[in-house]
Amino acid sequence: MNRIVLLGLCLTLGLWSCKKDPKDPLVGGEPTVYKPTVIDPTSIFPVGKFGMPTLPSDNPFTVEGVYLGRMLFYDPMLSFDSSISCGSCHRQENAFTETKRLSTGIYGLQANRNSSSLYNLAYSKKFFWDARQSTLRELVFEPIQAHNEMAMTLPLLAKKLGRTQRYIEYFDKAFGSKPNVFDMSKALEQFLLTLVSNGSRFNAFFPGKFSLLNDSEKRGALLFNGLVDFDAVTGLTTGADCFHCHGGGLAQQNNPDMGGIANNGLDGNFPDKGYGAITGNPADRGLFKTPSLLNISVTAPYMHDGRFATLDEVIDHYSDNVNYLSPTISPMMAAHGNRQLKLTVQQKADLKAFLMTMTDTAFLANPAYANPFKK
Ligand code: HEC
Ligand code: HEC
Repeated sequence: MNRIVLLGLCLTLGLWSCKKDPKDPLVGGEPTVYKPTVIDPTSIFPVGKFGMPTLPSDNPFTVEGVYLGRMLFYDPMLSFDSSISCGSCHRQENAFTETKRLSTGIYGLQANRNSSSLYNLAYSKKFFWDARQSTLRELVFEPIQAHNEMAMTLPLLAKKLGRTQRYIEYFDKAFGSKPNVFDMSKALEQFLLTLVSNGSRFNAFFPGKFSLLNDSEKRGALLFNGLVDFDAVTGLTTGADCFHCHGGGLAQQNNPDMGGIANNGLDGNFPDKGYGAITGNPADRGLFKTPSLLNISVTAPYMHDGRFATLDEVIDHYSDNVNYLSPTISPMMAAHGNRQLKLTVQQKADLKAFLMTMTDTAFLANPAYANPFKK
């Protein structure tokens, strides 16, 4: 008798937990059949503007896979004490970076670099400031297991996911599997690849329609896209040559092509060796991944160590403080004849005005990328 009551209770509780979660539009109570809804990648990527990226051949986008990845991205369950999620250090309103100089992980421990912004990752071939990862699928295991980020172990994570109804349901729907960390990494990869930013004013006028700019922005665009050339009479440079490294519609040369990984003259010796620590090659010391400048107005502080609090400080660096004696400085920087650009106050303001056209407000508020647990 008691047993039957208990069984009844379990069934009721079981059914209850399967009930539609009002916060979660896609979780339903109906029995699941493995039949994911495939998404055509040409509907995700702005092929006309950025071209078609090279995508993993064994991880097709599905509605269920992307949604699973989105839940995982925002789920603090991925950290050992369930205190932080990927979304804690990668915030949508900041183009998926955060406003701290260095990130704070679990137990208040500090990460050693500034959080990267996340968008148009499908067009990147190398990830992290030191370009140490080539696939997002492998990358996600780093923050999950890093002692100063999420400090999680994979067996424990698999166990936690396997006990959670929404994941039992969604791993089944997306991959026809029980919760496991391999498919977890594929779901996160799907979600990360869908983060596309191409709605800024810059992306509307680039490359041709400069008439859509006001005068200051136009002058800034000329500086950004012009080669360094000092006028014989005024002594002023007519170009600041940013485009060699931050060029194109992505405002970032495709990695690892020219400009993909470079030393932009911040330091003479290298407390953080960057790419050089990965390759062990002294010629690679102080080289870091060139970030895209899309959404740059909301991603402060800047550089791999967050050393610059404002865009003005960044522009001052390129104008007045480039370390031309830095042993591995990029040839693109050294092409300035080792002469500081010495931009005028007006030129600095123009350059900044141009950078401000790169903000994609639709991306920063796109509900498809938002925390699905908060509605
Ligand atoms: C404690 C804060 C923190 C957490 C939590 C965190 N990240 Fe990060 N993320 C960072 C930092 C810092 C970097 C730069 C690290 C580096 O370059 O060495 C980074 C870099 C990245 C990059 C590289 C982007 C690029 O363009 O090179 C990706 C992708 C990424 N994180 C995704 C994730 C995902 C997915 C999760 C959750 C599984 C996550 N992060 C959790 C702080 C965090
Ligand atoms: C030689 C290649 C190169 C050139 C030329 C160059 N940059 Fe950079 N830029 C980089 C690299 C590499 C970084 C990251 C460096 C680091 O964090 O150590 C960077 C970082 C930045 C950042 C910070 C991005 C962030 O997310 O933290 C801004 C803003 C920026 N550059 C603007 C400019 C402007 C404006 C110009 C022209 C005056 C310019 N850059 C010229 C390579 C370059």
